[in-house]
Amino acid sequence: METSRVLTQLLTQPDDWHVHLRDGAMLRQVAKYTARQFGRAIIMPNLTPPVTTVAAATAYRERILAATHDYPDFQPLMTAYLTDNIGGIELKTGYDEGVFTAAKLYPMNATTNSAAGVSDIKAIYPVLEVMQQIGMPLLVHGEIVSQDVDIFDREAAFIETILAPLLLNMPDLRVVFEHITTRDAVDFVTAGGSNIAATITLHHLQINRSDMLTGGIKPHLYCLPVAKREIHRQALRKAAISGNHRFFLGTDTAPHAIEDKESACGCAGIFSASHALENYAQVFDEENALDKFEAFASLNGPAFYRLPVNIRQIRLVRTEQQIPQTIGSGELSISPYRAGETIAWQFQGVTPT
Ligand code: DOR
Ligand code: ZN
Repeated sequence: METSRVLTQLLTQPDDWHVHLRDGAMLRQVAKYTARQFGRAIIMPNLTPPVTTVAAATAYRERILAATHDYPDFQPLMTAYLTDNIGGIELKTGYDEGVFTAAKLYPMNATTNSAAGVSDIKAIYPVLEVMQQIGMPLLVHGEIVSQDVDIFDREAAFIETILAPLLLNMPDLRVVFEHITTRDAVDFVTAGGSNIAATITLHHLQINRSDMLTGGIKPHLYCLPVAKREIHRQALRKAAISGNHRFFLGTDTAPHAIEDKESACGCAGIFSASHALENYAQVFDEENALDKFEAFASLNGPAFYRLPVNIRQIRLVRTEQQIPQTIGSGELSISPYRAGETIAWQFQGVTPT
């Protein structure tokens, strides 16, 4: 019999390899939740207008640093938003200068602020060839956008019609398949080479589509790619705890004001940053795989991105806490992921250097 429920985990400080921080007042409201836990974060470029130039990324980075001044060690890693017209030179310049860490592919109209995304992947093959040559990672939102493809099948269709042919054409292109939601994606990444990896969000490890749609529709569990059926969630959990170093942490935390979520046409996105590490720890704990957590959260991502691991450590303790009903204030109030619920772990900070 277990005599004590208190358990402490010290681990190398994790990074979040997929974050939406927004801009302006929302940025100032949410950035601290990421910066207090993570050493680095890959910052998504789907602002309005999107981040398509080195100058825009440099300026956005400055605004993020200003919003996270209480956490001076936090490093935002910037990405370029690929459009039909983006030039390889802009990408290469940004990559060489250390401004762009990667570039993000949003298929046009796939998700929030993707209207300027790519309409035909073939049109940007020359740009992707430049990326392959310089080793710049391509981050993909892996969903087909077509009325003919059911929303629950869009990730699998993306693999077949876009990603597999792309990698056949450019076998050395370094790709992160973002926020994977299906067994198909797990299998594809597992079978791939060392140049293909995937991020897994905490909500796709914890919820399936029934959680979103039974007992009343739950707008705060709606995101894209949408949560799938239980067999897929189980495949994602298996991948996360597998020890395979090509799966790593990316929350896809995506804040929207409550009124934009609780609406006749609600926005896609789950704000999970506030209790991200606790929820991930709970998943690994439930799977009796806490010994695999550090690799997933702190080691695999830097290895893929060819960056050093963080020097500092963080402390997580298995002790219950309740997630607040709301975060932020006024018209920008957010309902955090699992608002009002009791969770099993607590993040207790970063060890001083
Ligand atoms: O649910 C999502 N929200 N998925 C995305 O791909 C974008 C994100 C957002 O920006 O809100
Ligand atoms: Zn995202």
